[in-house]
Amino acid sequence: MGKDVIIACDFASAKQTFDFLDQFTGKKPFVKIGMELFYAEGPQIVREIKQRGHKIFLDLKLHDIPNTVKKAMAVLRDLDVDICNLHASGTKPMMAAALEGLTRPDVTRPLLIAVTQLTSTDQETMERDLWIDHPIDEVVMHYAKNARDAGLDGVVCSPLEARKVHEVCGADFLTVTPGVRFADGDVGDQKRVMTPAQAKEIGSDYIVVGRPITAAADPVAAYERCVKEFVG
Ligand code: C5P
Repeated sequence: MGKDVIIACDFASAKQTFDFLDQFTGKKPFVKIGMELFYAEGPQIVREIKQRGHKIFLDLKLHDIPNTVKKAMAVLRDLDVDICNLHASGTKPMMAAALEGLTRPDVTRPLLIAVTQLTSTDQETMERDLWIDHPIDEVVMHYAKNARDAGLDGVVCSPLEARKVHEVCGADFLTVTPGVRFADGDVGDQKRVMTPAQAKEIGSDYIVVGRPITAAADPVAAYERCVKEFVG
């Protein structure tokens, strides 16, 4: 899979999601389905979006004991999504078990990527609540290396970390980056943002874009602008 723009479908219902996707006549953008929509609508929403011909990043961020994650991933693999994820803090044995669960009998599987440290966690909260006292950028790189060593395909990270992740884990290790805004757009609650063109420049493999597309007056035009800037 090459570089692509993934639209974060952060909607509360199937109806809102399909009303949104129906605007894309003839195009089938790559979409991200998160916890809100999945918990509201169940696995059927994934099947329906897949049936409409979209690629899907199922963003459920699994984190549990290895056996439970393995079995949960075996369920997700049958939904035929393109990318799944988990928390790298679940450790290498959990990530390895997840890969096993995700792999089909014919050895195909969705891509599996890891969340390192959530971008809502900063140095201070990490030290105070998690008792991790290394610099946060080193922690992120350590978790990324663990993910690579466990056989995963990449990480979700800030576009600001994408270049370093590639240096540390290799050019083929995928970086999937949210926190993208147009130069003339609203930043909203995202703190460290980049434009699609900057994300391309820095080597992100996929950008995850929500509100700059979903809340735009013309979402199709906003999506196309994103693709033009990021993919070229
Ligand atoms: O609307 P916006 O473009 O900010 O949406 C970004 C999407 O990426 C949301 O679905 C958000 O949950 C997700 N995300 C993020 N930062 C992370 C991980 C995921 O913004 N570190």
